[in-house]
Amino acid sequence: MPADRLTIAASRNAEMTLEIRCSNATLASWSGDALVVGLFSGDAGSDVRRQLGARWGEALTTLLEQRKFEAKSGENLCLDWLEQTPALLVLVGLGDPETFDSEQLRQATATGCREAAARGGHHLGVAMPAAAFEPELGASSMAEAVRLSLFNDRRFKSNAEPRPLPEKVELLGLSANNAGVIATSSAICSGVELARELVAAPPNVVTPAALAYTAAQIASDHGLDLKVLERSDCEALGMGSYLAVAQGSDLAPKFIHLTYKPEGPTQRRLVLVGKGLTFDSGGYNLKTAGSQIEMMKFDMGGSAAVLGAMRAIAEIRPAGVEVHMIVAACENMISGGAIHPGAIVTASNGKTIEINNTDAEGRLTLADALVYACKLEPDAVVDLATLTGACVVALGDEIAGLWSPADGLAEALISAGARGGEPLWRMPLRPSYRQGLKSGIADMKNTGPRAGGSITAALFLQDFVSPDVSWAHMDIAGTVWSEKGRGLDPAGATGFGVRTLVNWVCAGGRA
Ligand code: BES
Ligand code: MN
Ligand code: ZN
Repeated sequence: MPADRLTIAASRNAEMTLEIRCSNATLASWSGDALVVGLFSGDAGSDVRRQLGARWGEALTTLLEQRKFEAKSGENLCLDWLEQTPALLVLVGLGDPETFDSEQLRQATATGCREAAARGGHHLGVAMPAAAFEPELGASSMAEAVRLSLFNDRRFKSNAEPRPLPEKVELLGLSANNAGVIATSSAICSGVELARELVAAPPNVVTPAALAYTAAQIASDHGLDLKVLERSDCEALGMGSYLAVAQGSDLAPKFIHLTYKPEGPTQRRLVLVGKGLTFDSGGYNLKTAGSQIEMMKFDMGGSAAVLGAMRAIAEIRPAGVEVHMIVAACENMISGGAIHPGAIVTASNGKTIEINNTDAEGRLTLADALVYACKLEPDAVVDLATLTGACVVALGDEIAGLWSPADGLAEALISAGARGGEPLWRMPLRPSYRQGLKSGIADMKNTGPRAGGSITAALFLQDFVSPDVSWAHMDIAGTVWSEKGRGLDPAGATGFGVRTLVNWVCAGGRA
């Protein structure tokens, strides 16, 4: 792999220098070139309206009436005041204050910033009712919304026109005490951006070697430990399940193990496992028209999320938690050496698997990754994977599926997700559905019936987790990509999972 390919895979669109900070300036005193203001509907006498009135007087009230701006959720209005400072006022409707939540705070901030940026604002002020929330949640929601919604990936355009982006964004009405929160959010956003770049990069650029290279960069930038197991190392460990998937590709598999150790004593040891299929052709059960084969570069979305999370964790350096990241990276391809449908392989825990469908390859790679993870004697293991089309059918592209036999871990992940704006929905690990994976010849098959396909996939994984380890599985097949873009996500790769993982780890990694 030529060095320039490797660098582009892990390069950041970092020419964007965006400074985000809290400011105690008021609507009356702030100066800059574009002011974004959130307004509730029907709050005629509110403080915000009064301050706007004090600054722009009758002219504004009249305009709002003329344009019939009612401040409903999803409504916004851009007003150019040309000769004045600020020259642009962007009003964003927040709807009913009773139903206003942190998700709407994120959406409104994102909308307002995109509108202001599109009109060339360089120095933005953003005023939202963040005080309605616990201060850390208000500040982090706004900071993440600003940065993530302005992200734009131009690495693969040869003649990309420079897109003007704001250089400075001030979050008004938030105390400067939030500097620590803003720094944490910035680390998280760098992690999300890395994940988006890895997922968006094509399969001829993000290869198993490129994922290993990305891990090596994080390790050397932040002083983490890295171990990359080659094919022969994996053979020695008996990883017959993972290697069966890798054997049809001309590219060497890379089993990547990256470790963050805290400065002081370790209270919890956590393992993040990510599915790292840099391309999934389906193998001999080849993907057919309509199965999104041309999108299967995103089948390493789990590995992108855990790499992004590790980058953020390495920068934040949380105390008391040791965090391991495992990615069994490879491609699922076709060749004379590729695995046969019907082949029987042995995983590193000794279980035999009849591969009745080579397109259910993610679980085969995760099986050996989970066995390896459990050998680290962790308090919790969380895996993320673009595992099943069935999960997309069940939950769509906004919500990820969550499976876990551990109530505490499931709750901790759901609340970590909610803090970051990543919705998770808990799904059942119904034991009787394991029948669907029965094999007449081996210990189990890798594929069950079509119905409940995301559940049997999770049940398959559970067979490779030690019963004494607290484990959760997230199926991000739907959320990894946003065709049109939505909320904080520009069209394309979302970086889904990074915020959930980092928030969970930084809250102590409750198992
Ligand atoms: N990577 C796919 C899952 C996928 C499909 C993600 C569509 C995003 C969009 C996975 O490896 C796969 O092919 N799963 C099969 C499993 C089946 C053969 C049991 C699927 O979902 O069709
Ligand atoms: Mn597949
Ligand atoms: Zn796959």
